[in-house]
This record gives sequence, C-alpha cells and structure tokens, in this order.
Amino acid sequence: MGKIISVVLPKGGVGKTTSAVNLAYYFAKKKYKTLIIDLDPIATCSFSLGFNKENIFGDIFDVFSYSKSIEAVIHPTGIDNLDCIPQIKLSKVEEGRQLKLISNEYLLRNIIKTISTNYRFIIFDCPPYLFGPTNLALIASDSVLIPIRTDEYSFEALDDLINRIDYINKTYNQKLTIEGIFITSYEKNIRASFKVKAKLFELKSAVMLNKSIPKDANMMNATFSKRPLGLASPSSRAAVAYKELAEEIILRNFGII
Ligand SMILES: Nc1ncnc2c1ncn2[C@@H]1O[C@H](COP(=O)(O)OP(=O)(O)OP(=O)(O)O)[C@@H](O)[C@H]1O
Ligand SMILES: [Mg+2]
Repeated sequence: MGKIISVVLPKGGVGKTTSAVNLAYYFAKKKYKTLIIDLDPIATCSFSLGFNKENIFGDIFDVFSYSKSIEAVIHPTGIDNLDCIPQIKLSKVEEGRQLKLISNEYLLRNIIKTISTNYRFIIFDCPPYLFGPTNLALIASDSVLIPIRTDEYSFEALDDLINRIDYINKTYNQKLTIEGIFITSYEKNIRASFKVKAKLFELKSAVMLNKSIPKDANMMNATFSKRPLGLASPSSRAAVAYKELAEEIILRNFGII
C-alpha cells in the first residue's frame, strides 16, 4: 500500500504546490514510485509539470462523474517513477459544477484504493481552503503534510487545519495523522521570521519536521521552465533543502532512505 499524503494549509501562497511537486520529484528520484494528484481548480501543479488543456486527456473529476476510470487519467510526467493526475484549469462556473459532483465524502478514498498498491507515495496538492476537494483528500489520506510561512497569520490557518483534522479523525477517518509541519520561503536574517520559527518549534515540537525550505529566487525560473526545481536548478539552496526534506520523510516512513 502506498502512503497517501495530502499537502494542505487553508491559506494561499504558502508553498503547497511547490512542496508537493518538489517532494514528489525527490521521492521519485529516490526510486519511490510516486503519483501526484492536482486537486486545485487553479491547476498550478499541473502547469508546473508541463500539463495544459492541450495535453491533458482526463482529470479526477472525469473519474468522479464515472466517465473515465482512474487508470485512464494517469499521465506520465516524463520523469522516471513520477506519474500525475493533472487538472484542467477551470472557470468559476465550471468549478461550481465540479463541486456538485462531490456528493459522497468517500468518493476519492474508494477510487484511490484501487491504485494505491501501484505506488509508494500518492500526493494530493490541495487548494487553499478546507471544503470540497480538500475534504475528500483528508478523508482519503493517511497523513497531512503542512507547509507554512513564518508570518503570524499562518498560525490561524494552522489552528483551523488542526481542528479540521480532529473532526475528520472523529467523523470519517480515524487513521489520519499529521505527517509533519515544515517552514517554506524561510528568510533566516529577518528577525520576525526567526521568532515565528522558534514559536512554531516550541508550540508544535512533536510534529515539526527539521528541515526548512529557504526563500530562493531560483524558484521563479523553475516555474517558467515548467519543471521541478530539482531538475531546473538541482544545486540551488531550495532544491537541496527539498531533497533533504524528502529524505527526512522517507526515513520516518520506511526507516531507510
Ligand atoms: N522557497 C521559495 N522561495 C521563493 N519563492 C517560493 C518558494 N516556495 C514557493 N515560492 C513561490 O511562492 C508562490 C506561491 O507558491 P505555491 O504556488 O507553491 O503556493 P500554494 O500554497 O500552492 O498557493 P495556493 O494556495 O494559491 O495554491 C509561487 O510563486 C512560488 O514560486
Ligand atoms: Mg497551490
């Protein structure tokens, strides 16, 4: 059975998609067969792996509406050991229509079960809110991976997410755990960032991952080249940090790298 991980924080622009893509890349590079599933209607994850309207032949909503099987919407990424279920970017009206497809909370969980033995990791890139696709992802997952920026507002989003995980535990999915919280776009020379980091490690020590991801201008180049940073600039500081974070997560789960 593959480990199913949702990347979630109900706050925009904290690095969910960047982290999902780059961790998936390094899991795959370490030969852990990985599937990344884009659940955000904005489709940044799909875009950053080179997918667009022209080359996407089906997404998870085609599976929800029973027009395609899950196997039929798995796209190769061109990267060894990394597959993707991309998402076609939606207009607001289409997004509303899709939300209506999500009538059964266990839909994604039941669908994913059929392919989970084919992968070591399945990663859901979630939108910056907790309803709709994120709710389904939390019900279908083994754990939640939480990227956070070192600003005061992040604590509010973190509390909302932790309350939701408690609720999901009680109501739908007892086995859901926190994989870990880690800091993204970290600027160690900014005093306020340093303070927030210290506060996070004090308040959430049991679930903090050691590795933080530094703020790195190379990230923009990777976005433009539509490749994970680890491919576009493998020796950049953020790429090296994602590699180490991936190793930390693999070690926790499998006991070896
Ligand atoms: N370590 C980093 N250094 C510099 N820029 C970064 C870093 N991580 C992410 N970014 C940039 O921050 C922006 C937001 O990142 P990303 O799209 O991953 O966030 P998100 O949480 O998925 O956003 P949303 O909630 O909108 O889905 C992007 O432009 C990305 O390139
Ligand atoms: Mg995103």
